[in-house]
Amino acid sequence: MSGHGDPIPMMSQRGPGLAGEAHVPGDKSISHRSLILGAMAVGETVIEGLLEGQDVLDTAKAMRAFGADVTDHGGGRWSVHGVGVGGFAEPDGVIDCGNSGTGVRLIMGAMATSPIAVTFTGDASLCSRPMGRVTDPLALFGARAEGREGGRLPMTITGATDPMPVRYTVPVPSAQVKSAVLLAGLNAPGKTVVIEQEATRDHTERMLAGFGAEIVVEETAEGRVITLTGQPELAPQHITVPRDPSSAAFPVCAALIAEGSDVLVPNIGLNPTRAGLFETLREMGADLTYENPREEGGEPVADLRARYSPDMKGIEVPPARAASMIDEYPVLSVVAAFADGPTVMRGVKELRVKESDRIDAMAQGLRAAGVEVEEGEDWWIVHGRGQGNVPGGATVESRLDHRIAMSFLVMGLATNAAMRVDDGGPIATSFPVFEPLMTGLGASVARA
Ligand code: S3P
Repeated sequence: MSGHGDPIPMMSQRGPGLAGEAHVPGDKSISHRSLILGAMAVGETVIEGLLEGQDVLDTAKAMRAFGADVTDHGGGRWSVHGVGVGGFAEPDGVIDCGNSGTGVRLIMGAMATSPIAVTFTGDASLCSRPMGRVTDPLALFGARAEGREGGRLPMTITGATDPMPVRYTVPVPSAQVKSAVLLAGLNAPGKTVVIEQEATRDHTERMLAGFGAEIVVEETAEGRVITLTGQPELAPQHITVPRDPSSAAFPVCAALIAEGSDVLVPNIGLNPTRAGLFETLREMGADLTYENPREEGGEPVADLRARYSPDMKGIEVPPARAASMIDEYPVLSVVAAFADGPTVMRGVKELRVKESDRIDAMAQGLRAAGVEVEEGEDWWIVHGRGQGNVPGGATVESRLDHRIAMSFLVMGLATNAAMRVDDGGPIATSFPVFEPLMTGLGASVARA
């Protein structure tokens, strides 16, 4: 099992309010996919604005181990010289995906239809997460998986020698599972069909089309039916990675709850499969506007402007919106603590199997900070205390989960007493510049 270094205790406290522009890093989902699809294309893919967080760096390292030539040119510009669909070499060593569920699951899919054996591992968080949701459909292609009990890492996958195309209905709303099946389908002959009942982030579909694969998406009574024709030659691309809405969520939410704030977060991707948080915040009464809305690289993009919003109200978040904001529930629950009345979040069972059990991690931390929380297996309710009435003063465990650490550091910017997290180290997996970005806006966030 891998891990990161010594714990980095951090704290945050109230200050004069946040102001200025927050340039958040590139989108994590798109960054992983750019490297993996680049490695499966023939020729050189250039990526601008790659997220250089540890999760993505681990995927870059993995692509090198499979034989792709991956080069960091500095300033977020990377290139990948791909080996073509079906061209992966068997790595010499173990593939360590660190903290990244997206990295490991997508790479498992990408190698599962090549005749190679690969052993995967990760940190303690990743080694506790379920992989059966990916290895079950990969078995239909003919791949074999041997791991620890409950389908946990470390795990060895032996790819199919004679892969067969599959037709698979994804049983949980998961873009990682959908994407693993599609990437496996690339090296299977014929048509691989993936059906999802709830739409999840569609970056894999969009990017496969961009790389020249034949992929058709139909909305039917069965759900979203995605048909991919296998064994294409993928053409290398020039990709500009949009900035990550899931990272933008932190300065946006901080500005909404920290008195006197006015923050602009430019160039945020607002793909509808990702933008659920912003819609929810607006329904709660947040002063959050989309400035200069435009299209870039086929994706809707805008500059987000968030201002201090003392009169937000708790709402019932529509369960149908869950997939489009699944990574944002932790920070939403922080905003909910400062709203008036309960915020009800249902249909969110998937939060239990993220980098940590996010319902449990947030509920415990919020309670320690004086906020009442009710929870069940797939729902939770945060009873908002209203602006100025949230005690804080707690030290919270981040549980190897970047979003738990960042959520509680955002919270401390508006609680009556400072908040502390035991380890801010995991923040580097997705948002390595979080601390300087927040302090640059005037936030009082520091290593304790
Ligand atoms: C991701 C999908 C989501 C999300 C994760 C990134 C992706 O996971 O939580 O941070 O890039 O496909 P699930 O597929 O498990 O919902």
